[in-house]
Amino acid sequence: MRILVTGGAGFLGSSLVESLVNLGHDVIVLDNCWRGSKENLRMVEDNITFIKGDACVSTTYEMIANPSSVDIVYHLAAINGTKWFHEEPRMVMDVNLNSTLRSLEFAEEYNCRYVFTSSPEAYGESEIMPLGGDEASVFPVAHEHQRHAYGASKYLGELAVQHAVRQGLDARIVRPFNGYGPRLLGNEYGQVVAMMLQRAVHQGEIIVHGDGLQTRSLTYIDDLVRGIEAAGLVEGLEGMSLNLGSEEECTMLDLAQRVAELVGNETGHTVRIRYEQGHPGDSKRRLPNLEQTKKHLDWQAHTTLEDGLGQTLRSML
Ligand SMILES: NC(=O)c1ccc[n+]([C@@H]2O[C@H](COP(=O)([O-])OP(=O)(O)OC[C@H]3O[C@@H](n4cnc5c(N)ncnc54)[C@H](O)[C@@H]3O)[C@@H](O)[C@H]2O)c1
Repeated sequence: MRILVTGGAGFLGSSLVESLVNLGHDVIVLDNCWRGSKENLRMVEDNITFIKGDACVSTTYEMIANPSSVDIVYHLAAINGTKWFHEEPRMVMDVNLNSTLRSLEFAEEYNCRYVFTSSPEAYGESEIMPLGGDEASVFPVAHEHQRHAYGASKYLGELAVQHAVRQGLDARIVRPFNGYGPRLLGNEYGQVVAMMLQRAVHQGEIIVHGDGLQTRSLTYIDDLVRGIEAAGLVEGLEGMSLNLGSEEECTMLDLAQRVAELVGNETGHTVRIRYEQGHPGDSKRRLPNLEQTKKHLDWQAHTTLEDGLGQTLRSML
């Protein structure tokens, strides 16, 4: 098949592209390298078409040769990373919404199957667990904080996708829960697992936000790629929303302790844990409802946190 992956140079996208190429698909990557890089695609660079361009702009899609032969669009381009949500909320909304609307229009024009990478953050601060079924999204008043620039953009993206489905498009939604693995960014604009590992390796300490009792469903990249890929390749999933997350719920303090031990064993250094105030609006728990995913994709995460953390650390050293 001929497949377009927006955001294909990023953390999730580059592994998805590798996997699709290995399955024999003809893959076009569209990315402006705002956060991802061509280096992430080194393993498959000779087997893909790379378009450097802005997914928010409709003319970018004119660079795709023979657009009518594109079978599937996986839309992953977005601004991700908690610090951006607070510092640049309008940029987050602009990119996440407009890239979704433009890529959706492309899929509609050329009748491609469409997979939207949403997020459990589309549920805002919902405390109903497990998360990601038919419960309502809950967002606080806008003056409190800006965090939900991201979650709300994903919520609106889901609305746009569901509207396209009503108009006849074969579109599907996936919601990855806290992905981690090689190539995850660990700088201050990165994501928690890589941030903890990187700081533990280079500075001998780990920062835990708040009391560390907030939980996440940390899901290894290989499991996520298997699920995202299947959400595009399996027949009969029009209009479905599929959560992709590990059922191994982990507190951030537990994660920090595991990282400290792992890095300590690997480097021979002692790793301290330091507490800091977290970002406002961080959810207290995140555990996926996998009912639909198990039923329709026969998917669940297989990689244990211990294995996944070990593989991620080794990729960093
Ligand atoms: N990583 C996770 O755990 C996770 C969880 C839930 C949802 N998601 C979603 O999955 C997708 C991929 O996330 P990721 O973690 O790989 O993030 P990422 O930042 O590594 O990848 C996003 C990619 O989009 C590109 N991009 C940004 N703006 C663009 C634009 N205007 N035009 C073209 N490309 C642009 C970036 O350069 C980057 O390569 C995102 O939509 C994200 O919201 C990720």
